[in-house]
Amino acid sequence: AEPAAPAAGDNTEEGDIVIGGILPMTGAIATFGQSSKKGVDLLVEQVNAKGGVLGRKVVFKVEDNKSTQADSATAAQKLIQQDKVVAIVGAVASSNSLAAAPIAQEAKIPMVSGSSTNPAVTEVGDYIFRAAFIDPFQGAVMANFATKDLKAVKAAIMTDANSDYSIGLGNVFKDVFTANGGTIVSEVSFVSGDTDFNTILTTVKNAKPDVVFVPSYYDTVGLILNQAKNNVGFPAEVKFLGGDGWDSPALFELAGDAANGHYFSNHYSPDVDSPEVKAFIDAYKAKYNEVPDALAALAYDAANMILTSIEKAGTTDAPALRDAIAAVELNAVTGKIKLNEKRDPVKSAVVIVVEDQKQKYFTTVNP
Ligand code: PHE
Repeated sequence: AEPAAPAAGDNTEEGDIVIGGILPMTGAIATFGQSSKKGVDLLVEQVNAKGGVLGRKVVFKVEDNKSTQADSATAAQKLIQQDKVVAIVGAVASSNSLAAAPIAQEAKIPMVSGSSTNPAVTEVGDYIFRAAFIDPFQGAVMANFATKDLKAVKAAIMTDANSDYSIGLGNVFKDVFTANGGTIVSEVSFVSGDTDFNTILTTVKNAKPDVVFVPSYYDTVGLILNQAKNNVGFPAEVKFLGGDGWDSPALFELAGDAANGHYFSNHYSPDVDSPEVKAFIDAYKAKYNEVPDALAALAYDAANMILTSIEKAGTTDAPALRDAIAAVELNAVTGKIKLNEKRDPVKSAVVIVVEDQKQKYFTTVNP
């Protein structure tokens, strides 16, 4: 009898190469997962059209973490034990990556988060990598922007008490803004799922800040911006500032024109011309008929780090693949990716201003 063909994901040197994804396809931050999946699907399609990796077809298997930590851990277990993936792309939210990373580390399956920016994620171990810059940089970018560009001296900070990303980024902003000579006049917190921010916004308004830093995700930020303008009556000259977590088309659905005039840091802007960005946008538009956001770009880059490294290592074997990812050098969509000894890339950030309920490139800040 013929020997049975190897099943997908059997981790031998023959069958399809199966990459896992731990993504928030549903729940509070679902646009992040949907964009990320589109980014990876595009790369896999491009790679397979050119004959795959090591002559083998690449398959991307996504588990929905429903935007939660518990489902992120379950997803990691399932992908590793059942699907026998050779590497994982994800998660998105830092708290969710922190839930999945110990499982990948323990199993020695390389995990590359496209977008998690909390430093603790890659500190989990030597099998955990990322494509994004980290929050100590991003938070400093926005604190310096507040001090130098906006000439702010008084800032308020609103954080999600359940999010490692939000707390970490808020702390960096506070440290840098204070070191710049500024004062934090109000600090309030909320949790994802809250929908009424009128009380804390009134507290913040009464403290008379020049800027309000809201390092949270679009689901809460959209409502906060809306209620700040329409319910609490913030003066237009008070600027709201945020981080990459604002990057979603849903922000504008939730905030409407209340998002206009405010600023956030991000990993990439389609307005910035580079050969890599242009090729990515053209291919993404052709496949999906929309302009990719940073989540799509970062997930594309994270998957590219994995697939490039498999080709280079000549194997999907975990220790060799780990070493190849650690040494990867890519002219990626979101910038040059070369990891430091902490498995973090050192890359530029862009500052985005919201105009006419759209993101507009404002400036680039280099590390
Ligand atoms: N940086 C966020 C986190 O660590 C995730 C994110 C990245 C969200 C990019 C939007 C865009 O939780």
